[in-house]
Amino acid sequence: MNLIILGAPGSGKGTQSAELINRYHLTHLSTGDMLRAEIAAGSELGLAAKAIMDKGELVSDDIVIGMIANRLNDKGALFDGFPRTIAQADALDALLAQNGRRIDAVIYLDVDNEEIVKRMLARGRADDNEATIRNRLSVFEAQTKPLVEHYRNQGKLRHIPGTGAVEAIAGRIRDALDTE
Ligand code: AP5
Ligand code: MG
Repeated sequence: MNLIILGAPGSGKGTQSAELINRYHLTHLSTGDMLRAEIAAGSELGLAAKAIMDKGELVSDDIVIGMIANRLNDKGALFDGFPRTIAQADALDALLAQNGRRIDAVIYLDVDNEEIVKRMLARGRADDNEATIRNRLSVFEAQTKPLVEHYRNQGKLRHIPGTGAVEAIAGRIRDALDTE
């Protein structure tokens, strides 16, 4: 099985991924985590990405598509924070199709902006300051939100209300996937 977990910054993609990878034996592929690992390693890519991430903008499609292509294996995958643009979604379909695979379902965690800002200010990651959060949310609206309609049209979207207790949300995701 290949799944995408889609949602605004701070919607709980990483939190919900932890249970999903165990339950469905998936490889967790988070482009945000990969980019932060590059920053921590002090690589040239990391240095370039950091300036973009600190502003809340998107790193170029080519860079993140390349990172994903390098990590695809025979196991099913859970894509977290990727794709974020229609171009990335098309590239992912093409990469999977090379091995006769496809995306089975897209979990869309729906959380309102007020709750998101509250969560992220409480967390305090490097890109969790108010100006950057605001920009990340508008970048999501403009560039990533169109993927909701894109996957709904393919019949793959599973709309999950993303507020409430972490375990309650996990239950909603299980229910949505177990009816596959
Ligand atoms: P990325 O790392 O993907 O960050 P994000 O999408 O902004 O999302 P977060 O990781 O902040 O939130 P999350 O949805 O994982 O929620 P979490 O579980 O942590 O991307 C960072 C940057 O990298 C981007 O801005 C971009 O620059 C670049 N990038 C990454 N991928 C890219 C791509 N494909 N293309 C181009 N650029 C890319 O939860 C958030 C907080 O809320 C936590 O503190 C958590 O404990 C808490 N929380 C979770 N669930 C709940 C709950 N139910 N109730 C209360 N609190 C909760
Ligand atoms: Mg995350």
